[in-house]
Parts: sequence; structure tokens; C-alpha cells
Amino acid sequence: MSTPRIDCAPPWSDVGRHAMSPEAGHDDVARFNFLANFNKYMSSVVVGGNAVAYESRVRPRWEAEHGRPPRDRREIRAAMSSDPYYRMWSSLRRSAMEMRQQAGRSLVLRQAESLRDRAAALNAGADTLRLDASLEVPRYQAAIDNHCMPGSYFAEYLPGDVSAAANYDAGMFATTTGLFGRFLDGAGRGVAEWLARVRPGWSPRRILDLGCGLGHNTVPVARAYPRAEVVAIDLAAPMLRYGHARARGMGVENVTFMQGNVERLPFADGHFDFVYSTMFFHETSHGALRRILREADRVLAGGGLHIHLEQPPYRGMDEFEKFLRDWDCYHNNEPFWTTLHDTHLPTLLGELGFRGDRVFETQIHAIVEDEMPKVAGEVEDYGRGGMWYAVGSERAPFDAWRGDAAGADGPAPGGPAR
Ligand SMILES: C[S@@+](CC[C@H](N)C(=O)[O-])C[C@H]1O[C@@H](n2cnc3c(N)ncnc32)[C@H](O)[C@@H]1O
Repeated sequence: MSTPRIDCAPPWSDVGRHAMSPEAGHDDVARFNFLANFNKYMSSVVVGGNAVAYESRVRPRWEAEHGRPPRDRREIRAAMSSDPYYRMWSSLRRSAMEMRQQAGRSLVLRQAESLRDRAAALNAGADTLRLDASLEVPRYQAAIDNHCMPGSYFAEYLPGDVSAAANYDAGMFATTTGLFGRFLDGAGRGVAEWLARVRPGWSPRRILDLGCGLGHNTVPVARAYPRAEVVAIDLAAPMLRYGHARARGMGVENVTFMQGNVERLPFADGHFDFVYSTMFFHETSHGALRRILREADRVLAGGGLHIHLEQPPYRGMDEFEKFLRDWDCYHNNEPFWTTLHDTHLPTLLGELGFRGDRVFETQIHAIVEDEMPKVAGEVEDYGRGGMWYAVGSERAPFDAWRGDAAGADGPAPGGPAR
């Protein structure tokens, strides 16, 4: 039997430095390097044993008891939940998530005050950071510690705290093993490249990023369209304070970071030419997703388009694969994960009566630095790889964007994705 070849994850010292980067010591770096390679080993080698366990003992035992194989992923989960190999894999995976949070928190909490002060200095006097202390965080966010982050995106241990965001920023390179790029902006760079390809020469005047987090994927779009007014909205003040300071430190000044719930946008109909989101929908809820999509449609200008990047839908996957992907829903505090991936988003857009009448689906790959690992083929590691499913729609008149690109090829008939 040949030993599988496993490439090492890039070292954590390759994380892109910026004005808000926490100061890391030897042990912090060693923890992140261990976690990155542990995650890589888990997702490339250890995961495979689940299928072996299922085929060799779990399914035969179920068949002996029920006279048929498990029907769907729910029955597979019921059958696998007592299997020792699956339990080991699941518990290691959960431990890796918890260790990642421990590693990040031990790095940022001890310097919470200096990070807060650095953010305050970079944010001073700017009218492009708009916080709203009266904002009510919806239950689907307030009730859980998203993907095992203690206190989630909202934890504030001191006034003006940014530590939750600094933790998110510092540890993500380890969980994504470099696949999102040095600045974790591979999705935003992918969006900018896609938009330039489907609408060459088009310059959206106003751009909206929904659920922007700390702006990892806002900054590359803002840079691609430096004359555009970009608005990036999120619920979490720590993410916005940190994100605004980080963007300023990078010399990006055309983004307004705004605290708000994107289920209710404070903008007039047709205000934005381009609306997008990255890795956001899976953290909402059944009702919220519908309200958010309606708002995205409402604020979209004629000739504009919107696009949303997410992990691939379950459509067409076999039941065992769906069962493995459901892990995040049951064990990683991502309660909407399964429902979202079961939802046929183009149909939902139709049901919501989208005025954007050209609905499209496409795939967007992370664009990362040459030295960073690239997503290989279809392997995307249950949402942590650099490859996304994308869905969106265009609002007529479709050729309004042609203005300064006369004669350029526009979107092909049927939508921009083809
Ligand atoms: C997984 S993060 C993704 C952040 C960012 N889009 C990125 O690509 O890095 C999801 C973000 O959605 C935000 N969020 C969740 N529900 C929201 C809502 N209803 N309105 C605004 N932001 C929301 C959370 O606060 C969190 O920062």
C-alpha cells in the first residue's frame, strides 16, 4: 500500500502583515503551524477512514437490522454515530476547532488593549466607520458561538474591543491552510476578477458587501474599483472597528464600514450597482435569508447585478458526502448550514419574485498569491477550501453597463456565468 503524499500547509509566518496584525511569539506561531497541518492531515487522510468504516461495517450492520441500506444522510448519521472511527474523527475535528479558538484567544486577549488602541488611532476622525450601539443582534446570531468562537463575533471585553476580530483574522489562515491567500481575501479577489471578466470595462458607482465581517473580501473589491463608493455592513462592532482600521492601514479609503442588520437596509431602492456577499448566507436563517435576498433585490439599480458566494449546495451529491458535510451543522455551531445547502437558491430567487430577471449560477475560485496553495480540481474541504458556488441575478436593462466599454463582449445570453 502506498503512503499518501501530503503537502505541508504554508507556515503561519506567511500570513500577510497589516497595521492591525497582532504580535505573535514563537509559541503562538508553533500552535498555528501545528493546527494548519493537523487540519490538512485530517481533511486529506483521516477523513477517508469514515467511508471505509461505513462500507465495511456500518452499512452491513444497518442492512442486517433493517433489511435495506440507510435511505439518506440522516439515517447514515444515525448509523455512523456509534461507530468508533467516526467518533474519533468527529472528536478530533471538534478539538481542532476548539484548539484554534484557544490559540487565537491566547494570542489576542493578552494584547487586547494595545489592539484596541491601535484601532482607535487608525479610526480616529473618520466618518467611514458608522457604529450603532442600539442595534439588536438577531437570535440566529446572538444565540450561538459561531464555529466555536467564544462570544462569537460580538464578544467585547473592554470598551472599543477588537479582540474577537483579531482572533478571527489570526486563526483563519490555519483553518483554511493558506487556501484563501495571505490576506484571506481570495474570495473577494475572485469576485473582482469574475466581475471584470463578465462586464469588462464596467465601473459600478456604488457597491454593497453584505455581512462583510472584518472586510477580508471587501478590500480587494474596493481596490479593484477605487472610484466606487463601497459600503460594507455587518452586525458586529468589533469586526467593523478592526476591519475599518485594517483597511485604512492598507491605504483603502473608499469603504464605509457600517453596523447594521442587512435584513433591513437603510438605502433607497436602486441605490447600488453591485451587491455581493461572501460566505455569509450559511450564518443566517430560513426567514432572514429571504428578507436579505429581497433587500438585495430592492437596493439594486437597473443594469446592476448581485452575486453571493457560498459552499457548494448538496444538489447532486451522494448521501454519504452530504452526511460528512453536515458535520458543521451538528458539531461546529453552524445550525443553518444543512438547510442552506439543501436550498435551491435559483428557485428561491424566482419564488421571491426577483425583479432581477436573469438568475445565474457559477463557480468562483480563490485568487491567491503564487506561493500559496491553490484549490485542486473539485476538492474544497467542506467549505474551507478556496472554491465557491455562486448565485446571483442581473437587473434589466442588461446592457446599461456598456457605457465606457462600447463594443466589449457583454454577458452571454442567459446570464453572465456561462
Ligand atoms: C462567516 S462571516 C463572513 C464575513 C465576510 N463576508 C468574509 O468573507 O470574510 C459572517 C458575518 O456575517 C455577519 N452577519 C450575520 N448575520 C448578519 C446580518 N443579518 N446582518 C449583517 N451581518 C450579519 C456576522 O456578524 C459575520 O461577521
